Amino acid sequence: MLSDQDRIFTNLYGQNDWGLEGARKRGSWHGTKDLLDKGRDWLTNEVKASGLRGRGGAGFSTGLKWSFMPKVNDGRPHYLVVNADESEPGTCKDREILRHDPHHLIEGCLIAGRAMDAHAAYIYVRGEFMRERHRLEAAVQQAYDARLIGKNNIHGWDFDVIVHHGAGAYICGEETALLESLEGKKGQPRLKPPFPAGMGLYGCPTTVNNVESIAVVPEILRRGAAWFAGLGRENNTGTKLFCVSGHVNQPATFEEEMGTPFETLIEKHCGGIRGGWDNLLAVIPGGSSVPCVPGETIRSAHMDFDGLREVGSSLGTAAVIVMDKSTDIIKAIWRLSAFYKHESCGQCTPCREGTGWMMRVMERMVRGEAQKREIDMLFAVTKQVEGHTICALGDAAAWPIQGLIKNFRHVIEERIDAYTYKSTSDGAVPSVAAE
Ligand code: NAI
Ligand code: SF4
Repeated sequence: MLSDQDRIFTNLYGQNDWGLEGARKRGSWHGTKDLLDKGRDWLTNEVKASGLRGRGGAGFSTGLKWSFMPKVNDGRPHYLVVNADESEPGTCKDREILRHDPHHLIEGCLIAGRAMDAHAAYIYVRGEFMRERHRLEAAVQQAYDARLIGKNNIHGWDFDVIVHHGAGAYICGEETALLESLEGKKGQPRLKPPFPAGMGLYGCPTTVNNVESIAVVPEILRRGAAWFAGLGRENNTGTKLFCVSGHVNQPATFEEEMGTPFETLIEKHCGGIRGGWDNLLAVIPGGSSVPCVPGETIRSAHMDFDGLREVGSSLGTAAVIVMDKSTDIIKAIWRLSAFYKHESCGQCTPCREGTGWMMRVMERMVRGEAQKREIDMLFAVTKQVEGHTICALGDAAAWPIQGLIKNFRHVIEERIDAYTYKSTSDGAVPSVAAE
């Protein structure tokens, strides 16, 4: 479990000054020039050695991603783009950084910019984040006024930070849709490859990183890669922001060591499960895109990339959605299906048609108004969508349904049996309550 000394985010609840003075007291902007002077290769190698994996959901090595940026300058500018379009249902961690510790992020941008030979960072903020955007803009202005960034700044690396406000589309959190949107086009994902490091914003080498990934970099470099790598478990190092919502006694966002067992996490930070552990039905451990896990399976699971893979799910954004036995699990997953159908950009057929098809079948299953053979048919359709689309939204729509069928098939079957019984005995048709 994480000790107070090892915490990076010490103002997560806004209990202290978010501004430059407060941030400096918490250690931000200390020795930044010394770090930059160590040069591009040292910065990238140190982040690689820390084992930091992308905190936006995919868990790709951050240092490795930085190393993909071209070493030879072909005349095109390099860009850092920060993905602050935090929209994954259940996820509310980057929001706290933007609100209460924005200087962690701005200092991280400067250091990451130096590491990838970039002189500008674009921070793409989720459309609904009005307060967060204003706070971030104010912090950026403080950094310019104190000559921490900008032209001829005290760090000797010219660097601009541009805050860009999105318009409220989930798909713009997908990195290439985000780049399209930044360029002023419709936010639709691009085919990869080419990856952004080769051809990103305005056709130039670009790295897209999540807010948390960039915000932890200054502390990693100040304290050393070995410190970060010494926390957590092998291949799953460091600390992580978790956001726990749903049927716990105290929903919360907090920083904890990677790999902490689920039960410890909930007891320490959330006051336990509502109604006790016997009342736990299921958990979606990584934001809405990942499969749910039955309560008894997840209880001792390590909350990191490998630990959750072992129980058939994923860490994703570490947005932990807890559901107790009062939950209608079929309806909860149907609600996610409706979300993905709504957010599909419509560019590729399996996603455009498949999300609507899956949602409609799920809707009938909520009522029990389906045939049992349709359960296998629905599963087969999710397999037709998964891996056959331009971006990960298709997978994200398929995986929650797969998790439901694998773990709660008996609930769907019982609902169908109940519907058959009810409709033949009294003719009444149960309905999906209005959302
Ligand atoms: P991905 O695995 O395709 O890519 C991850 C990153 O690694 C990208 O930046 C990509 O450019 C880079 N990359 C991967 N292979 C590469 C290669 N061979 N060469 C160069 N770069 C390479 O995953 P993706 O689609 O970026 O993200 C999916 C995840 O996003 C999901 O797991 C989900 O959890 C998460 N997500 C997060 C949201 C949020 O609000 N934070 C919203 C929606 C999804
Ligand atoms: Fe658009 Fe869906 Fe295809 Fe992604 S998978 S590009 S959201 S249609």
